[in-house]
Amino acid sequence: MEKTFVMLKPGVLQRRIAGEVLGRFERKGLKIIALKLLRIGRELAETHYAEHKGRDFYEKLIEYTLSGPVIALVLEGEDAIAVVRRLTGPTNLLEAPAGTIRGDYAARTRLNIVHASDCPASAEREIGLFFEAREFCPWEDGNRDWF
Ligand SMILES: Nc1ncnc2c1ncn2[C@@H]1O[C@H](COP(=O)(O)OP(=O)(O)OP(=O)(O)O)[C@@H](O)[C@H]1O
Ligand SMILES: [Mg+2]
Repeated sequence: MEKTFVMLKPGVLQRRIAGEVLGRFERKGLKIIALKLLRIGRELAETHYAEHKGRDFYEKLIEYTLSGPVIALVLEGEDAIAVVRRLTGPTNLLEAPAGTIRGDYAARTRLNIVHASDCPASAEREIGLFFEAREFCPWEDGNRDWF
């Protein structure tokens, strides 16, 4: 099964919508196999977003990411990377339709409240940045047919 990395950015806790956002992934049938609440340091934030270094929004993005605790999680499911990106919605807020997380909860592209891996290589890299092997908690799904 494919795994993907998701980070609920600081705005999620600040707005008390963690349950609602996590619920979107759960209702879709994705399986949470690792999850933690943490305040990340500048080094991890910069490594995580290294591909954007030098872009005009980079400093603000790092600042926002460091502005409070985040929730990091690993989701598992069939085509989990693409499915989670669909649930999350497009980066540009003007393009994020109602029904997606960004479309429903975010008002600005810079504050688009959730990060999701965009390809298998990113997922593997990001999972490795945020989680150690012992933090995973795989479980058997007795109700597999529901999804
Ligand atoms: N034009 C922009 N203006 C302001 N902020 C931006 C802009 N483009 C991207 N960002 C911010 O940088 C983050 C990373 O951009 P990226 O292009 O990787 O989009 P994404 O893959 O949809 O988002 P993420 O990596 O956070 O899941 C975005 O989520 C957003 O917060
Ligand atoms: Mg990205």
